[in-house]
Amino acid sequence: MPENSPFTADLIISNIGQLVPCASAGKPKRGAAMLDVGIIENGAVAVAEGKIVGVGNSDDILRKFNADQNVDADGCVVCPGFVDPHTHIVFAGDRLNEFKLKIKGADYLEILANGGGIISTVKQTRAASEAELVEQSKIRLDKMLSCGTTTVEIKTGYGLDTETEMKMLAVIEELDKTHAIDIVPTFLAAHAIPPEFKSNANGYVDLICNTMLPQAWKWFVSSHFYGRVPFFADVFCEKNAFDLAQSKHVLETARSMGFRLKAHVDEFTNLGGSRLAIEMGAASIDHLDAISDEEVKLLAASNTIGVVTPAVNFNLGSSHFADARKLIDAGCAVALSTDYNPGSAPCPSPPMAMAIACRYQKLLPSEALNAATINAAFAVGMGNKVGSIEIGKAADLLVLDCRDYREIAYEFGGNLVASIYKNGRIQCIAR
Ligand code: NIG
Ligand code: FE
Repeated sequence: MPENSPFTADLIISNIGQLVPCASAGKPKRGAAMLDVGIIENGAVAVAEGKIVGVGNSDDILRKFNADQNVDADGCVVCPGFVDPHTHIVFAGDRLNEFKLKIKGADYLEILANGGGIISTVKQTRAASEAELVEQSKIRLDKMLSCGTTTVEIKTGYGLDTETEMKMLAVIEELDKTHAIDIVPTFLAAHAIPPEFKSNANGYVDLICNTMLPQAWKWFVSSHFYGRVPFFADVFCEKNAFDLAQSKHVLETARSMGFRLKAHVDEFTNLGGSRLAIEMGAASIDHLDAISDEEVKLLAASNTIGVVTPAVNFNLGSSHFADARKLIDAGCAVALSTDYNPGSAPCPSPPMAMAIACRYQKLLPSEALNAATINAAFAVGMGNKVGSIEIGKAADLLVLDCRDYREIAYEFGGNLVASIYKNGRIQCIAR
């Protein structure tokens, strides 16, 4: 571009009190680098064709660019749209009865072992039509968008039979086609042992490996996700769910077909799932409440992201949280998710997860913001496309009704999101 001829952009947002890019130069942030959010005071962002084309000081950007649309941020904070890297938002019904049982002291894994918990949502999800699931899940996506989420990972796992797991994938594809939030799909047939296989868990693992994973991969290849986002396979490696050998079988089979890997590990019990998933090159290992020091070292030395889910502990009324402070201090790349689901975390809000992470996992607000944006993007294989305000990335931007980005985690229970741009287009948000 010649020095003196301004480039025409579609949109410039200027007079940003604190522009908080969370830029990472192509890799997740680990250890002390998680403290750096790269604040630019009096910042501006220029956008063309849905992508970021300029980031910097307002005076510089306004000199370099003209735009059809100019937005004055009036001193507000602008940060990247949140990436929620672990959710289960396609389901039917609710778990309100279980909420009461939990308040009265019932244990999450005991409820599951007695045919409630995940299994009660499986029953409701099997009985729902595809259209009903789309309708109910769309309401959840709308809530997430209004909280600032612009990219989300969604897992299957409330079908636990081939037909319903495939129905969930169809719902995820329909949501992605019709909703502003971008979705990364994850196949989680290995979420719980279905009632039909209660005394034959290995039989269910065989069904997953021989029938469900191949069908899911076939679906992916002809879906509109193919070539745009990765497809993950996940397993719940836990007491009363899948043991280490079963988890290994599922993950190895999935990897051989082309899936990228994730694993629910150490949520309650350490079965060795973290080591297994790290050694298998998983993109992320999630929960980590019971991870061992040895495994923390392995995680720090790997390319796997550690995803923590503090809304789960909060919701279960537990005082024990994954030691995310220890993970970061050991040099791990940590991401933060809501884990939005009907049982362990009915929470659509990344800022709420950040608020809990700061108080109970001792993250600083800068660490929590990097964890909910750029590191979360890497946890879903999208780190080169979203999660930070960098030239060439999608213009997924939040204008926040505050002057200091630390308020995102400091205040809780409200919503500071004033406007949301997804691929450079402003979104209408229902409140
Ligand atoms: O990440 N742990 C397993 N899966 C979810 C909970 C799902 C549910 O309770 O419905 C989780 O916590
Ligand atoms: Fe989960």
